[in-house]
Amino acid sequence: MDKLKVMTIFGTRPEAIKMAPLVKELGVRPEFESLCCVTAQHRQMLDTVLDIFKITPEFDLDIMEQGQTLSTITSKCLLGLEGVFQQVRPDLVLVHGDTSTTFAGALAAFYQQIAVGHVEAGLRTGDKYSPFPEEMNRSMVGRLADLHFCPTEANRRNLAAEGIARGVFVTGNTVIDALDTTVRPGFKFTTEALNRLDYKGKKVVVVTCHRRENYGEPMEEIMTALRRLALAYEEQVELVYPVHLSPVVQKAAHGKLDGLENVHLIDPLTADEMHNLMARSYMVMTDSGGLQEEAPALGKPVLVLRRETERPEAVAAGTVRVVGTRGADIFAMAADLIDSPAAYAVMAHAVNPYGDGRACRRIADAILYHFGRTDRPPEPFKS
Ligand code: UD1
Ligand code: UDP
Repeated sequence: MDKLKVMTIFGTRPEAIKMAPLVKELGVRPEFESLCCVTAQHRQMLDTVLDIFKITPEFDLDIMEQGQTLSTITSKCLLGLEGVFQQVRPDLVLVHGDTSTTFAGALAAFYQQIAVGHVEAGLRTGDKYSPFPEEMNRSMVGRLADLHFCPTEANRRNLAAEGIARGVFVTGNTVIDALDTTVRPGFKFTTEALNRLDYKGKKVVVVTCHRRENYGEPMEEIMTALRRLALAYEEQVELVYPVHLSPVVQKAAHGKLDGLENVHLIDPLTADEMHNLMARSYMVMTDSGGLQEEAPALGKPVLVLRRETERPEAVAAGTVRVVGTRGADIFAMAADLIDSPAAYAVMAHAVNPYGDGRACRRIADAILYHFGRTDRPPEPFKS
């Protein structure tokens, strides 16, 4: 029987980290011919992931430009992918999550009448503008896709509420598969400043922030709250903040946080460094989607610097709190976790509502089932 030709498409750091274990899984299965196409919506932040996971894409659209707009990203991806699909006609295209690459990838495949599988399907806030533009990207891919790989049962229910019930599999999130390969005891950082941190004597707080809906006043409030926190806990806390390469974020972070001794504004970390840093940290403050999934698995409390989240599972489990973007609230909740061992203990327990490390196996099995290569669908992931 012919191999199934499956093309994974991704372009940004989080997509790459979450698709990497799936590329590996498809690569070792004899039933698949696995091809990988990157749009390079991100360049440096993508390349470090490809490097860590030793992935050499067959196609690279290299679309990134500084300060790119959503329309530029989408149209460059659409045109580039049209060319790729004219060269190779996959049986299935896999896209991940909610970025502009994801949406353009699904749309470009649909235009060529190629089947689409959506990895990390079914997350919703219900607010069209938050996260922006991700909520609509993910919803629109939900309409375009033939196969939907939902991390959790709640994600499956979200799709069912939109009338999407065929080709839906609950698999867990592939990010937990990735974490299993990166976190190691005794890990040595190549970023020397991270080897020098006093993880036992100090409370190391990992910070990231980059969402478009936080641009402007919310980001100013977040940075001001971080500054206040650093100054109020000069002796106890070290803030480690790998700053996203977006010029908007760079300006906001350096503008407010430069020159503080206990704030480490560093370059984006490689995925393995980031995961091992979180594993050694006290807590995480972030507006990132991926960090909201990884930190709970590592037993670290997370304060979400957003008004809402499409990842409510860890909030329900008590390890994640959505604090919003008002400076006073951010400071108060962080201070509580620093000052109160009781408040900290309530949040600091490892939970894995997002996966068990076997998501990629389930996705590969589900693809085989969909194409009639096996009679048995994978057992759904249960948290
Ligand atoms: C994108 C995704 C967002 C995801 C985030 C992960 C969209 C619309 N947004 O947002 O969902 O959460 O990636 O980080 O798809 N830059 C570099 N080098 C890099 C990467 C980015 O210089 O390696 C700079 C460029 O100036 C670029 C800017 O960052 O224009 C913003 O990148 P872009 O992909 O447009 O948006 P993100 O905010 O990264
Ligand atoms: N990450 C990383 N280096 C960093 C910051 C984040 O490797 O300096 C990883 C993080 O562990 C997670 C992913 O990038 O796996 C999240 O990406 P990001 O926050 O950029 O996007 P989001 O998840 O919000 O879409």
